[in-house]
Amino acid sequence: MTRAPWVTHFGFTRTPFSKTIPAKDLLERASHQEAVARIRFCIAESLLGVVTGEVGVGKTVAVRAAVSQLDQAAHHIVYLANPTVGIRGLYVTIVRALGAVPRGFKAELIAQAQDLLAAEEHERRRRVVLLVDEAHLLEPQQLEELRLLTSAEMDAESPLALLLVGQPTLARQLRMGVFAALDQRVATRYQIAPMDLAESARYLQHHLALAGRTDPLVADDAVARLHKASLGLPRALNNAAIAALIAATTAGKALVDDDCAKKAVAELTRD
Ligand SMILES: Nc1ncnc2c1ncn2[C@@H]1O[C@H](COP(=O)(O)OP(=O)(O)OP(=O)(O)O)[C@@H](O)[C@H]1O
Ligand SMILES: [Mg+2]
Repeated sequence: MTRAPWVTHFGFTRTPFSKTIPAKDLLERASHQEAVARIRFCIAESLLGVVTGEVGVGKTVAVRAAVSQLDQAAHHIVYLANPTVGIRGLYVTIVRALGAVPRGFKAELIAQAQDLLAAEEHERRRRVVLLVDEAHLLEPQQLEELRLLTSAEMDAESPLALLLVGQPTLARQLRMGVFAALDQRVATRYQIAPMDLAESARYLQHHLALAGRTDPLVADDAVARLHKASLGLPRALNNAAIAALIAATTAGKALVDDDCAKKAVAELTRD
């Protein structure tokens, strides 16, 4: 496999700051751990949970981490990466994920989804976990359908655990009066925080160590500059770090100093 010049320059064993980082390799920073714990609680108790955070703060990786810790035989995970599929699309996704062919008419389709959910819980003893990512994109009618799904049965037990994961506008949207019935059912809500400077420093070290470099590669002032430019958001910090490593490579430097960080930030903030 051919490696990028900057990857070779630093002798990395693999490309650092990759978005395909396995769940077991994630940095266990405080806000990430807290989000994972909340998600696991909702799943264990079949509750409705809302997890929000800015773009690139680590919402999807928190969901991945929580799911990777589950007993796969006892759970049926239905992951909806993009909910802009309309009301019908919601039910079709659930029905297909539970292994059936969606029925044609809406009323039939809804009944089918409810029957399948009940069968998973009572007959197969498997908990269905519906994870809706980018949930700030849900339409009001879809939110209403989700509310009906979580309270489909007469008894108090919800037939599924439901996690809504999205940008901070999601939390604001749910607080609007029309969603009061759904909002009241939210058992846990959590906003993932960006990293502080110390966490950003650990984050950089962590990713560099995963790529085989455990020695300090980034000067303290450079770390501070990259942290500030990325607002402590992991995805933005990934991009800033890669740009800084490339700047160091171009300048023939063995370490990322503040000059390299400056170049990286200038490059990323240029229109
Ligand atoms: N705890 C972590 N450990 C290591 N890398 C992380 C961690 N959190 C986030 N990342 C990195 O940041 C990237 C962005 O995270 P993620 O995709 O979860 O953000 P998001 O909040 O879902 O963003 P969006 O709002 O765009 O969906 C990941 O691909 C990963 O590289
Ligand atoms: Mg995401």
